[in-house]
Amino acid sequence: RSLAILQEFQSECTTSLFRLRQVVDAMTVEMHAGLASEGGSKLKMLLTYVDNLPTGDEEGLYYALDLGGTNFRVLRVQLGGPEGRVLRQEYEEVSIPSHLMVGSNEDLFDYIALELSRFVESEGENYHPKPGRDRELGFTFSFPVKQTSINSGYLIKWTKGFAIPDGVGKDVVQALHDAMKRRGLAMRVTALVNDTVGALAGARYWNEDVMVAVILGTGTNACYVERAEAITKYHGESPRSGSMVINMEWGNFWSSHLPRTIYDEDLDAESLNPGEQGFEKMVSGMYLGDIVRRVLLKMAEDSFLFGTEVPANLYKPNILRTPDISKMHQDESADLREVAKVLKSILGVSSTPLKVRMLVVELCDLVAERGARLAAAGIVGILKKIGRDGSCLSNRSKCDQGEGRHTTIAMDGGLYEHYPKFRKYLQETVAHLLGEEIAANVSVELSKDGSGIGAALLAASHSQYVNT
Ligand code: BG6
Ligand code: GLC
Repeated sequence: RSLAILQEFQSECTTSLFRLRQVVDAMTVEMHAGLASEGGSKLKMLLTYVDNLPTGDEEGLYYALDLGGTNFRVLRVQLGGPEGRVLRQEYEEVSIPSHLMVGSNEDLFDYIALELSRFVESEGENYHPKPGRDRELGFTFSFPVKQTSINSGYLIKWTKGFAIPDGVGKDVVQALHDAMKRRGLAMRVTALVNDTVGALAGARYWNEDVMVAVILGTGTNACYVERAEAITKYHGESPRSGSMVINMEWGNFWSSHLPRTIYDEDLDAESLNPGEQGFEKMVSGMYLGDIVRRVLLKMAEDSFLFGTEVPANLYKPNILRTPDISKMHQDESADLREVAKVLKSILGVSSTPLKVRMLVVELCDLVAERGARLAAAGIVGILKKIGRDGSCLSNRSKCDQGEGRHTTIAMDGGLYEHYPKFRKYLQETVAHLLGEEIAANVSVELSKDGSGIGAALLAASHSQYVNT
């Protein structure tokens, strides 16, 4: 009976190449719709006001704050200009206490300002800004923000594990400036960026072929370089570079072609943000473990997978985390020892027959494979939108950007970094969808922790002291 539940799940979450191609097409259609008008699509396709990516000429001392992943980070980066590039970087990482993730906006920003002032206070004498100047800061804020300029914007909604109602609709830079003022900290945000945008900027600093950045971590999202004239909803000054980075917020992408199961529906209904972030809930690290838990619970209830009693922990949302399923999935031992260990430590199941462990591994495989293949389809959707998926070989008018050029997708996030099987599925699927010839011109590269440095680089290029 457990096997039947697994098979049913498998058939509902299948990601055949045919279905993935429908997802690719849906992604490009939604991208067009989101660029055409506000509210035109569930894909928000947010303007970032980043129209110049780092060149390597950036120089000076800059700071960055990185909020929204597993950890909160404060960085200091000394940029050496064309000759020196990044001369020195230092950072501190702390986790955000969970009560602050669901508390009040002021408390959250007070905490951030406190950590930032500690970081600044502990630095040596030679870090003082030039007289009369404030320290400048790039703020990576990994949530959907409607930007009004490079250094202002209001929060559209919280995602992932955050739910702070009084923060929605507020200018996040203003909130940070107010909190810094309360602490007497003289610092100024010169660039507000999403983590995808920071990752793109950070990777582009080293490699000009980077056109797209994707985060696969607690949440998932992508941004890419778009031609200004393709952003029809934008009526501001046209960027001199002719292009602007677009933060897609693809976590909220939706299409009827996505293979959604009853477990996904239940997870959504019980989440902090029901009806939102549908793609993210099938793909990202915050949710994969809990999908596995839900299927296991069904098996335990309906077919006594773990004996006559259902382990009480199996009822607890989010108790099984994605790093746990990664560990079980990658267990190479003949008797699946790691699987047994995880089942024991997390679910309190003291002994499990080998065939139960094998079934658990199979389930982890299905959930990870589906997520990775969907993310791959999303990437190919972007490549298609910017004419780098090979489709222009048959239709020359589509070759709007760099036909035949190498394209690099910068990738960051714990899910991609720490889950090799997920990574492998993603890479294989990108290659299958593109075909051998085109895939040879596309690479997905881990660009670890790029978004902090990226934010510092953008803070530098938008410094108020530039040319003074
Ligand atoms: C980090 C970025 O490297 O990756 C963060 O600097 C980003 O801004 C994060 O949010 C995603 O990682 P995770 O896995 O912690 O959600
Ligand atoms: C969520 C956020 C998005 C962020 C992503 C990855 O989807 O809404 O802004 O980029 O997580 O951290």
